[in-house]
Amino acid sequence: MDPSGQVLSRAQAEQAWPWMSLEWQTKAPAQGHYLEWEPAQGLALKSSEVGPRSRLHIDYQHGPQARRIKAVSGELLTRALGCQQRLRPAIVDGTFGLGHDSTVLANVGCHVLAFESHPVVAALAADALQRSRESTWAERLTLVHADAQTVLSEVPAGVIYLDPMFQEARRAAPSIEMQFLHQLMPDAPSGDALLAAALQSKAARVVVKRSAKAPPLAGRAPASTLQGKAVRFDLYPLRKLQADDCEPWWQGLH
Ligand SMILES: C[S@@+](CC[C@H](N)C(=O)[O-])C[C@H]1O[C@@H](n2cnc3c(N)ncnc32)[C@H](O)[C@@H]1O
Repeated sequence: MDPSGQVLSRAQAEQAWPWMSLEWQTKAPAQGHYLEWEPAQGLALKSSEVGPRSRLHIDYQHGPQARRIKAVSGELLTRALGCQQRLRPAIVDGTFGLGHDSTVLANVGCHVLAFESHPVVAALAADALQRSRESTWAERLTLVHADAQTVLSEVPAGVIYLDPMFQEARRAAPSIEMQFLHQLMPDAPSGDALLAAALQSKAARVVVKRSAKAPPLAGRAPASTLQGKAVRFDLYPLRKLQADDCEPWWQGLH
């Protein structure tokens, strides 16, 4: 929906999110979820049931995620992924979601190839990345709308990062963003198969984000864990990280 009336043309929308089949409206529907596009804000997901003020809108330029991107130095996340001194591993993020983790990793200097399988989440993320295209970190981040399952076992180097949807709530009151994600994906797969594929790859390390008290993915005990308050990172080292693991091996591939 474009409340200001076709400011974004259908041709532009189809070019920006070619995987989406769009039905154009200028008024919010009475029921269900809908996407709203505004020139200043870009794309947002809203829900008639939740109310017009609540929305899922990804923004890396302003607000909390912009501050997190700028502030990051020694986050647990970057340590888990193997960032140390000058080593910045090339990362395949198999579960991009809202891109909160991938954007931080790109900002500290990692090249990131990210996959997001949900069409609406991928459209919101692609739009947010388009609005961030002037940021240096954005040059290091490539987002693909595809299922990572088929590619993970073929990853030849670097680190694989997985953050599948949590089956249980991470906190007593999940954020609006997480509520929207759970509404979009009520039966999200556990991620067990993603881990199995990742462990067959030639990556140096696989890292899985879990809620602090959740059992390990696929019941497979990690070699070590970095424990935070609400979440932890399970580490599955496959070999020693080397300088070669920092090369974005996917560049030049089609
Ligand atoms: C919990 S969210 C990830 C959050 C993310 N780490 C962040 O920082 O915003 C999980 C995401 O993984 C996506 N996903 C799950 N399985 C996938 C797969 N096989 N391939 C690509 N994306 C997948 C889901 O659609 C969802 O958007």
